[in-house]
Amino acid sequence: MARKLIAGNWKMNLLRDEGTALARDLALRLARTVDPAFDLLICPPATIIAPIAAAVAGSGLLVGGQDCHSAPSGAHTGDIAARMLADLGCSHVIVGHSERRQDHGEIDLMVAEKARAAQAEGMVAIICIGETEAERNAGRAPQICSRQIAGSLPRGATAENTVIAYEPIWAIGTGRTPTAAEVADTHAHIRAMLAVHVPAEAAGIRILYGGSVKPSNAAELLSLANVDGALVGGASLKADDFWAIAQAI
Ligand code: G3H
Repeated sequence: MARKLIAGNWKMNLLRDEGTALARDLALRLARTVDPAFDLLICPPATIIAPIAAAVAGSGLLVGGQDCHSAPSGAHTGDIAARMLADLGCSHVIVGHSERRQDHGEIDLMVAEKARAAQAEGMVAIICIGETEAERNAGRAPQICSRQIAGSLPRGATAENTVIAYEPIWAIGTGRTPTAAEVADTHAHIRAMLAVHVPAEAAGIRILYGGSVKPSNAAELLSLANVDGALVGGASLKADDFWAIAQAI
């Protein structure tokens, strides 16, 4: 199994100077760590990826995008092609985050096309899935995850080019999380679904948990079977908190 992946999704936060300072701080900590037990990734807003990628080059800190378009170029005002992110040095792209699905009407097919575009440019697609609170209360979380995996996983997904991020929507930014047993159950279910769709790759695809991960709950969440890392929102905006989450492995 690959090292755990601790990924920070900065969402629509931070300007150039503060983002670069945060990235430099993390890069320094990483550079001082002998044989880290984790891969560390930050996904800043697209506007500041370029200076950040330049500032942390060679440190081992990975930089990714928060979204990409499925087309390589063309008349798509305001969008960003996967190859543009790769051109800046991005190694990963988050696709299908629930905020994209909600705010921009992204459906599974679009997510699969974005993931395929990212992979075609040599990047890792972090494909986000997760149920709403109503769906969980109705006992439908497994079905929702199954449907999203079936629809969002592109052909050619491998352990090298694909990460799944399970983010229950009701846990994002709320301070609430599922119980450890619930997370373990859902991640086992996701692993089983991957085995159906990509049998030869399923064991190696990293499955991240996301939703109110913080220093105080990271150790328990990251110790669970089939939890191969975390996708962190709010707590990734503070170097001490994000670093503490990585150190909890
Ligand atoms: O992409 C990150 C997730 O949406 C989690 O955000 O850690 O602020 O709950 P959060």
